[in-house]
Amino acid sequence: MVDIIEKKRDGEMLSKEEITFFINGYTEGSIPDYQASALLMAIYFQGMTPEEQGHLTMAMVESGDQIDLSAIEGLKVDKHSTGGVGDTTTLILAPLVAACGVPVAKMSGRGLGHTGGTLDKLEAIEGFHIELTEEQFVKQVNDFKVAVIGQSGNLTPADKNLYSLRDVTATVSSIPLIASSIMSKKIAAGADAIVLDVKTGEGAFMKTLEDAEALAHSMVAIGRQVGRNTMAVISDMSQPLGYAIGNALEVKEAIDTLKGQGPEDLTELCLVLGSKMIVAGEKAETVEEARAMLEAVIKDGSALNLFGKLIEAQGGDARIVHDPSLLPSAKFQIEVPALSSGTISKMVADEIGVAAMLLGAGRATKDDQIDLAVGIVLKKKIGDQVNAGEPLAIIHANREDVTKSIELIQKHIHISNQVQEKPALIHEMITG
Ligand code: URA
Ligand code: CA
Repeated sequence: MVDIIEKKRDGEMLSKEEITFFINGYTEGSIPDYQASALLMAIYFQGMTPEEQGHLTMAMVESGDQIDLSAIEGLKVDKHSTGGVGDTTTLILAPLVAACGVPVAKMSGRGLGHTGGTLDKLEAIEGFHIELTEEQFVKQVNDFKVAVIGQSGNLTPADKNLYSLRDVTATVSSIPLIASSIMSKKIAAGADAIVLDVKTGEGAFMKTLEDAEALAHSMVAIGRQVGRNTMAVISDMSQPLGYAIGNALEVKEAIDTLKGQGPEDLTELCLVLGSKMIVAGEKAETVEEARAMLEAVIKDGSALNLFGKLIEAQGGDARIVHDPSLLPSAKFQIEVPALSSGTISKMVADEIGVAAMLLGAGRATKDDQIDLAVGIVLKKKIGDQVNAGEPLAIIHANREDVTKSIELIQKHIHISNQVQEKPALIHEMITG
C-alpha cells in the first residue's frame, strides 16, 4: 500500500492490480483509514486517467452484489441525475420511456438536504411500496416494462466506505472519485447503457459549467472504458425545475407532464433525456425519431396509463393519475408576495430547496421524518414579470407560521428592473 500511495503521490498511473488491491483491502479492513486517506488525497491532487477511473469503478462494482437483469429482455437503460431542486424527471421518464418499449428497471434513492428523492415522492402515493425482491423486480419489468424500487442488496460497499472517508478528509470534490462513485452504483444496479443528467448552477452539486463538463466527460469516458454506452446532458439548475417542489406536489406535476400539460422546462428535459434513453435502448435510430415516439405516447395517453399500472403493480392507489386531488394535501396555502416590481433576474435554487425543506418537504439529516404533503409551488421563473404584492410562490404547509420559508423565498428570488432572458435549459450534450 505504501508503494501505491507513493506512486500516485508522484503522479504515476496505477495499474488495475494496484487499484483492485486497494479496493479489496480497504473493503476487507486490511488497509487502514490512514493509508486510504493518503491515497485519496494523492488522487485529489494528481487525478486519474480514464483507464484508472475505469478500473476503480469496476473494482467498486465487484466489491459487493450486482443486480442481475439478464432475465429482462432488451437493453436496460438507466438514467442518473446529479441532483437538483424540484427535479421530477424520474417519475415522468420511467413510464414515458417504458411506454416506448425500453425496459426501465430503476433503483432510486431518498432525498437529503435541498434535493428531493424519487422514493419519497413515490411514497406520497398511498400504498406504494418501494421494496421488491430481485425476482419480483425482474418479473414486474418483464410484465409491465417498468419498476422503481429502493436499493436492495449490498451494492458497492467499497463506495459507501470510501464516501464516508472522503467526507471527513476533504476529498469528496475530486472529479475522478465522484465519477467512479456514481458510475459504480449504476453498473452494479445492472445498467447496460447510462444517460446522465449533470446539473449545473446555483442549485447543483457542480456550480460551474467547467466542473459539470469535467464530471460529464469523466463519466462518459468511464462508460466507454468499461463497455457501457454512456452519454451526458448538462442541464440548467440555476432555478428549480418546473414549478413544484415537494413530494405530493411533484407527483401531481409529473402527472400533468405525462398528460402533456406540464411546465415547459420539465417537459423539454424529459423529452431530451428520454430520446437519448430510447436511442441507447435501440428502439429508435435517431433522437428525432425517439422524440416523436415520446410525444406520441404522451398524446395518446399510454404513458399516463403506464404510470397507473406501475403504481398499481407496487400496491399504490392508481386513481391518482386521473384524480390528483386524492394525493395528500397540506392544510394551508400561503402566498409569498413580491416585495418590488420588475423582472425575475435570478433564483438561488438551493436556498429555495432549503425553504421547502424547512416546511418539512425534505430532510436536514438522514433520520428526519418528512411531510409528503408540503412544499412550494412557484408562480414565477427567471425572465417573468412581476408586480409588487403579486405572488412569487404559494407555500403549502401544515402549520401557519412559515415566516422563515417566506423570507428565504423573497430573499433568493431576485427582482431587477433590467430585462432578463430565460436561461438555456440544455447547456451541452456529451456522447461517447
Ligand atoms: N454522488 C455520488 O454518488 N458520489 C459522489 O462521490 C458524489 C456525489
Ligand atoms: Ca418540479
